[in-house]
Formats: sequence, C-alpha cells, structure tokens
Amino acid sequence: MVTTTLFTGIGELVTCDASLGDGTALGILRDAALVAEDGRIVWVGLAKEAPAADGRVSLGGACVVPGFVDSHTHLVFAGERSAEFAARMAGEPYTGGGIATTVAATRAATTAQLRLAAALRVAEMTASGTTTLEAKSGYGLTVADEARLLGISREFTEETTFLGAHVVPAEYVHDRGAYVDLVCGEMLAACAPNARWIDVFCDEGAFDAEETCQVLRAGIAAGLMPRLHGNQLAHGSGALVAAEFGAASVDHCNHLLDADIEALVAAGVVATLLPAADFCTRTPYADARRLLDAGINVALATDCNPGTSYVTSMPLVIALAVRELGLTPAEALWAATAGGAKALRRGDIGRLTPGARADFAVLDAPSYVHLAYRPGSNPVGATYLLGALAG
Ligand code: NIG
Ligand code: FE
Repeated sequence: MVTTTLFTGIGELVTCDASLGDGTALGILRDAALVAEDGRIVWVGLAKEAPAADGRVSLGGACVVPGFVDSHTHLVFAGERSAEFAARMAGEPYTGGGIATTVAATRAATTAQLRLAAALRVAEMTASGTTTLEAKSGYGLTVADEARLLGISREFTEETTFLGAHVVPAEYVHDRGAYVDLVCGEMLAACAPNARWIDVFCDEGAFDAEETCQVLRAGIAAGLMPRLHGNQLAHGSGALVAAEFGAASVDHCNHLLDADIEALVAAGVVATLLPAADFCTRTPYADARRLLDAGINVALATDCNPGTSYVTSMPLVIALAVRELGLTPAEALWAATAGGAKALRRGDIGRLTPGARADFAVLDAPSYVHLAYRPGSNPVGATYLLGALAG
C-alpha cells in the first residue's frame, strides 16, 4: 500500500539542493515541510503550501538536515588501543604499526562478538544523525577473515569496501609480493561478492604506488570501484594514483603538492577529509581551504577505527572541520552530507529533494550552525531512515 507522510513544523530545512530555498549550496527553506512516500521524498516546500498526506508528523519548529553520509569507516573490529593513544599523547608518533594489534584481536574474536561491536557503533552513529555509512574490511588480512568482515559489514550497509591492502600482515613481511598476489587473487575472489569498493592504504609504511596500482587493477577487473587512503602520513602517490584510476575519492589528504591538487581537479576525485584522525593522532590537519579554492569537492567522514579515530559522531567531525580546518558551518554541513554522497557516487542520499531517500536528522536546535557551535553535545534529537524513526 502506498502511504504518504507529511513532515511539517520544520523551522529550518537544509535540503543541500541549491535550486531550492535561499539560493545557497545548502538550499535552506524556512517554515518548511516535506512529504515522503514509501521512504522517498516526493515533495519539499513551504509548510503553508504542503499537500495533504495520509499521515502527519510535526517537528515543532526544529532544524532538519540531510542524514550524514559517513563515507569512511573501519566499522568492524575487535579490541582497543588506548595504550597506543596514551603513548601518542606522550609524544610517540603514529606510524600505522598498531594496526597489527587490531588484526590480532579481530582474528581472535567470534563473528557474534564482531557483529555486536559493529551494531553498537552503528547505533551510536544513527543516534548522532548518520544515515549512510561506508564500512571497510582490513583488520582480517587472511582470506577467511577479510571475507568474514565484509559479510558482517554487509549486514549494516551496502557501501562495503575491500581493504585487504591495509598493511602487509606479519606472516608476509618477508614476502610482500606474495601478500599482494593473495589480495589480488584468492582474497579478492572471496571478498568481491560482498564489496562495492576496492581500497588500498597507499602511504609510507603501507603500500607503494606499484602495489597500489596492482590491487586497484585487480579490484576493478572484479567489478569493484576504486577509492584510496592516500597522503596521510607523508607525501606519496595516493592522490596521483587516485586520479589516474578515476577513483571516487582519496581520503586523508594531509600532504598534497600542487601537482596532486591539479590531478584531483582534472579527474574529478573527491577529497575526503578526516579531521578526527588528525585530532586523535595530534598531527597537522589537511589544508581544506586550498582544496576548496581549487574547486575540489570535499567530503567529511569519521574514519571510525580503534587506532587513529575512535569516533562515531559526524557532528564532532563537523565541529572540528569548522574550528580546525577553517570551513564555514555551511561548507562543513555540505561536506558531511552531499559531499559524502559524491564520495560514494550516490545521487539518492545527502540531499532532501524529490526522488532522494527520506533520510534526515532532526536537530534539537533552531539552526544547523549548532552542529559546530555545541561541540561534544549531540544536537541530533531524532534520525529518520526512509521516512521512519530510527533507533
Ligand atoms: O584510516 N590509515 C590507515 N588506516 C586507518 C587507521 C588504522 C589503524 O590505525 O588501525 C586510518 O587512519
Ligand atoms: Fe581509514
């Protein structure tokens, strides 16, 4: 049965559709309403002009924003690395070496334990307004464990990413080539059925350009689309390889040269910034303004993982992006919604416009600026997925 629901009493509606509302990229309407039909938005406009619907929900003058699109998470893992964090805060650098600790804990965990831990993280994400999340493997690093992590990830999202090339596991350190061959062969074959994306940690201490290209070529041949971790720890080839392969996104982007930026612009690659990882590793932030000024689409994501960013909150990421990366609150909200959708090549999320999914966050606030203005609180009062109250 087709049912329509009118959501009205929206004091401030951020659509992220520049053709609606106030003429800015956020497409803001005041005293607004939207109508959802079977989970999709079919009408957006002024409350006083709203059509009749089967049901009616009044949101009491709140601000409504598109649900956050967290386009970079390492959702499924076991264990924790607080000792590594404490050592870092006492001056140790982050090198990626701690990934092995999480790999060991994850391999040792039961599937039920991994599923429960992931479900608790997803519940936190949903409560803070995330309606789409990407989830990577990368803490298994055996054929069976990587396949297991992707199977669990698929229970939570369609945006699953095979990251067998996260680091070379201890048992292969003396034969990196054999590990890359495994990733490109048997591991990819086991993982591809539950993956949409192929990713590589292309950085100092992880994988070099040649290895990255080998993995991306194999992933693409298996029907996966490329995205990359790049330029986080040092200047490397990540951005250039992402551009060469037409990747949807290159993520981190802390160390970029002008040539990298030119290549990203030419190839239309999204730059996904992960300020919570920089915050939690106490490393310099990416130069967001330089990327925006070059005309690159910027996305923001949590990078939720136990090593560099044990963070599930997109409002916190927005607050960091505003305070530390110099984005305006409007730029940060766009990057956390429409920007994330571009990083996942999705046209049906990240915007509240006819045809899009009715995925939105109702803020306990009159304005979206509160997302950045009240760091550390959760300004999200309710999250709706396909027009239904979540959680
Ligand atoms: O995105 N950079 C590589 N991977 C993760 C960190 C993984 C870890 O330290 O466990 C990241 O920051
Ligand atoms: Fe990451």
